[in-house]
Amino acid sequence: MLVVHARLPLLVARQAFFKDYRSGKKMMTTINELTNKIICGDAIETMQTIPDKSIDLVVTDPPYDFISKSPVGGGFMLKNNKKHLETINKSFGMSYNPEALLSQLQRVCKKFNAYIFTNKTLLAKYIEFAKVNKYKWEIIVWSKPNPVPINNGHYLIDKEYAVFIKESGAKFNSKCGFEKYFTVFRYSIGVKQTQHPAEKPMKLIRNFIEVSSDKDDLILDCYLGSGTTAIASVQLDRRYIGIDNNNHWCAIATNRVSEAKTTGIIQ
Ligand SMILES: C[S@@+](CC[C@H](N)C(=O)[O-])C[C@H]1O[C@@H](n2cnc3c(N)ncnc32)[C@H](O)[C@@H]1O
Repeated sequence: MLVVHARLPLLVARQAFFKDYRSGKKMMTTINELTNKIICGDAIETMQTIPDKSIDLVVTDPPYDFISKSPVGGGFMLKNNKKHLETINKSFGMSYNPEALLSQLQRVCKKFNAYIFTNKTLLAKYIEFAKVNKYKWEIIVWSKPNPVPINNGHYLIDKEYAVFIKESGAKFNSKCGFEKYFTVFRYSIGVKQTQHPAEKPMKLIRNFIEVSSDKDDLILDCYLGSGTTAIASVQLDRRYIGIDNNNHWCAIATNRVSEAKTTGIIQ
């Protein structure tokens, strides 16, 4: 089955990792073993097997607390969807740790070059990280023209954030067309290709990849979900490494990537 294939590089990497761990040596998989693979495993643990300075661009969407403490989320969402959201939280594992992610990304990127989706609470942490390292940063907004029309005395939940962090010398193509350089993109909620509750708009992910990488570059998404980043990479002739710790989403992503490779459909 496809997922079994997808797990192979990680299994090989894990075996070698523990062998070398016992002997006190740090182990790396070769980049070819991981390239164009979807690996079912923990993001941080799997990234530890990626060689230093091998990734051109990171586009990723880590899990964060879906059961918002904000009055809108806590009120409307909890009342209507509590059970469903609890399941999502549980299955997405709420142990997300930006520090561990950022330190692995610093190691695996040739030059730090990343788009990371985030909630507003974590934005400050990412910006602080960029400032400390003297990287450029930008906040990109996915604006949703059709939010849930209930405000409960507060502003609507009509956007998501991605923070873009770039080290000097990392790729940035300046001639992709004017419309690619906006920092606010409007895409409706519900235009989805899978049942993944956090699927991102394909066009937005393709925009990031086109602007910040070239053909054949290696793109990493360590929280791959339904496979959006890997599919966008295939469609744009880039290579990819996708990681997700959920078997179901690894299988869906693997199938969708195969389909993209055979049909080449751009949506
Ligand atoms: C916000 S979703 C990503 C959605 C994706 N951008 C898409 O378009 O489908 C986060 C994903 O991270 C995965 N995940 C959660 N904890 C993880 C971990 N520790 N390691 C790897 N993946 C994890 C979840 O299974 C989930 O699919």
